[in-house]
Amino acid sequence: MSDLLRDIDEEALKINGIIETYLPKGTELNNTLVSAMGYSFLSGGKRIRPLILLKVCQLFEKPDIRGARAMAAALEMIHTYSLIHDDLPAMDDDDMRRGKPSNHKVYGEGMAILAGDGLLNLAYETGLSACEEAEDPSERERRVKALSIISQRAGYNGMVGGQSLDVEMTGKEISREMLDYIYKNKTSALLEGAFMAGAVLGGASEEEVDTFMRIGTKIGLAFQIRDDILDVTSTSEELGKPINSDKDNDKYTYVRLYGSERAAEQVERLSEEAEKLFDSMELHGDKSFLKDLISYLTKRKK
Ligand code: IPE
Ligand code: IPE
Ligand code: MG
Ligand code: MG
Ligand code: MG
Repeated sequence: MSDLLRDIDEEALKINGIIETYLPKGTELNNTLVSAMGYSFLSGGKRIRPLILLKVCQLFEKPDIRGARAMAAALEMIHTYSLIHDDLPAMDDDDMRRGKPSNHKVYGEGMAILAGDGLLNLAYETGLSACEEAEDPSERERRVKALSIISQRAGYNGMVGGQSLDVEMTGKEISREMLDYIYKNKTSALLEGAFMAGAVLGGASEEEVDTFMRIGTKIGLAFQIRDDILDVTSTSEELGKPINSDKDNDKYTYVRLYGSERAAEQVERLSEEAEKLFDSMELHGDKSFLKDLISYLTKRKK
């Protein structure tokens, strides 16, 4: 394993330690729901979004680390809920996720829907508690802004919007404009949220937040195209989720539209553009980990 992969794995373990503190204990009567939430939330994801949020925040001189931890957990809750719902028979009908049977395979469809709902709500409970606990008005203002960004990126005009066009157009031929809308929303939106919320909690200027948004858009597009490539080139053991899911669901992807080779070229180009934007920023902290992470994301094997 390369040093970079080891570093990323170590950081992901630290994130696990942070986010698990935000998952409540169940009571006798809601225990099944809370264990279904924990089943997906606590298991094996790459933790890319919370990692980005925390690392971006740390690039600034006066990072609000407590706020960033809460918002990172909230963002990962939203991402995890999106995966539970994405795997349901009504959507991609995938039986494996994060190396284990999908949530609905263990808990049934009804409980999987509710586990997703529970995580989505818990994200806002977590984010709003952090706003309430802020020590001064400027800290509170940043936390509210970060949560507002995350909520917009997650919602009808973000991840859910992308997923909705993805569902609507399954099995149909789609235009490039539609494909871009799907990718920018179903995947870039939460990555934009990670970069932007981290920057806001660090005290970034509006211009810096905007640059991080553009980095997030590009990384998100590259990340999703890479996901589509891995869907046809990888193994389910390595990915921890089924391969050929897009083909089985008759989905239009970049790979189907342009072929793996041209899709890979787009990933390369988007990744370079994101790196250039990141290089152009003058920031207080050490940028090397995030720079490596950006380039790893688009070459990743899982
Ligand atoms: C999967 O996201 C869904 C996509 C947007 C492609 P990740 O690849 O980040 O999944 P986990 O969190 O590591 O399981
Ligand atoms: C889903 O895209 C992105 C989400 C918002 C969950 P995919 O359907 O390609 O993600 P995977 O391949 O199931 O992780
Ligand atoms: Mg999907
Ligand atoms: Mg899927
Ligand atoms: Mg996929």
